[in-house]
Amino acid sequence: MSDYFSYQNNRLCAEQVPLAEIAQRFGTPCYVYSHTALTDGYRQFEFAFAGREHLICYAVKANSNLAILHQLARLGAGFDVVSGGELQRVLAAGGAAGKVVFSGVGKTATEMRLALDAGILCFNVESEAELLRLNEVAGSMGKIAPLSLRVNPDVDAKTHPYISTGLRQNKFGVAYTEALALYRKAAELPYLRVTGMGCHIGSQLTETGPFIAAAEKVLALADMLAAEGITLEHLDLGGGLGIRYNDETPPSIADYAGALLTTLRLRSEKIIVEPGRVLVGNAGVLLTRVEYLKHGEEKNFAIVDAAMNDLMRPALYDAWHRIQPVQRKQLASPLSNSLPQAGERTNVKGDSLIYEVVGPVCETGDFLGHARELAITQGDLLAVMSAGAYGMSMSSNYNSRPRAAEVMVSGATVQLIRERETVHQLFAGEKTFLL
Ligand code: LLP
Repeated sequence: MSDYFSYQNNRLCAEQVPLAEIAQRFGTPCYVYSHTALTDGYRQFEFAFAGREHLICYAVKANSNLAILHQLARLGAGFDVVSGGELQRVLAAGGAAGKVVFSGVGKTATEMRLALDAGILCFNVESEAELLRLNEVAGSMGKIAPLSLRVNPDVDAKTHPYISTGLRQNKFGVAYTEALALYRKAAELPYLRVTGMGCHIGSQLTETGPFIAAAEKVLALADMLAAEGITLEHLDLGGGLGIRYNDETPPSIADYAGALLTTLRLRSEKIIVEPGRVLVGNAGVLLTRVEYLKHGEEKNFAIVDAAMNDLMRPALYDAWHRIQPVQRKQLASPLSNSLPQAGERTNVKGDSLIYEVVGPVCETGDFLGHARELAITQGDLLAVMSAGAYGMSMSSNYNSRPRAAEVMVSGATVQLIRERETVHQLFAGEKTFLL
């Protein structure tokens, strides 16, 4: 439990505000973020890299709400975007285009034009074909595109295979062995300007070793380039620092930065990092209400009003999120109303039962947590913890479910930062087919 979400008089609070009050006011499901957690996380990054020229480019995909982008922009952050949509969000939130890096394997010509018009810091280019397209698009606009190659260092990030990106077999980055030739080519193209080199090996890393291994490979390549007279202004070491969901022990921001800075101590290039999850993951929870308790033959189900469309991580990666009651019951609380009759009980353990916490979506994969011990009754509120990163940003409208509301808390102040979607908004763009 973090300082930002803690029990006060058995009531789970976001900073100083009871989550039950937020649920009452804004309904459920609802994402709730701590402004202080976000701010503290960013400041830790700034502090950790303070010794040298650096830019913290928040990976927008982790959570792209304008209020979050706005606060980070105010703190001086840059941004890592992977689409024209994310770039437009950053600009709408007051982010500086000159601090934006544009990553991703499939940038369209339209997205390149948008970014060139805005005047972004750098394109992180991931293939020869993209390099050629960028040169062409920049040329057609009479502009020079700043470029960094995203190199695939072939380092095992030791994380979930779906979020591991730095192995040879992954679709990401330019093969290490081809990078030098591609840099030579880039240096000769008229509408490109080589400014940097980057890598990103994966997400939710819990050790510093793979980061260091990747950085060393980037440095070796940068040395080879320098020997050919191609000098770089920045080195972008990507994102990926993990957080604690359960019992993981990822390095602190300070230890992560310290390890990178030690590796880079003899270099003068500006350092860019692209943290996403570590800035917002533990700054947010998903608030949900128990609709029904259902005691099956083998399992007990807590059917809640949030589902895989709201938080896809458990269904997609088998990810584990702590699930906490919003009102902590006294140990001797009478649960008799909610318990099934004797003989129907399954997995009874004291006052609580072991539940499958599931949503209403028609898929067996629609679960938020397996085998959770909870003392709950119908109508209770639960908080799915560590949901600030890749929660709302990966949500969908599957089963025609409007997306959740989002709320930001700072101290005792609460603000709605995204209205709950309406069903009407869901089909507003659809038309009846007439013959
Ligand atoms: N930079 C690039 C180029 C990336 O692809 C990513 C994440 C980041 C930075 C930020 O990584 P972070 O610091 O957040 O680990 N949906 C998955 C995570 C996918 C990460 C994709 N790339 C999840 O829910 O675990």
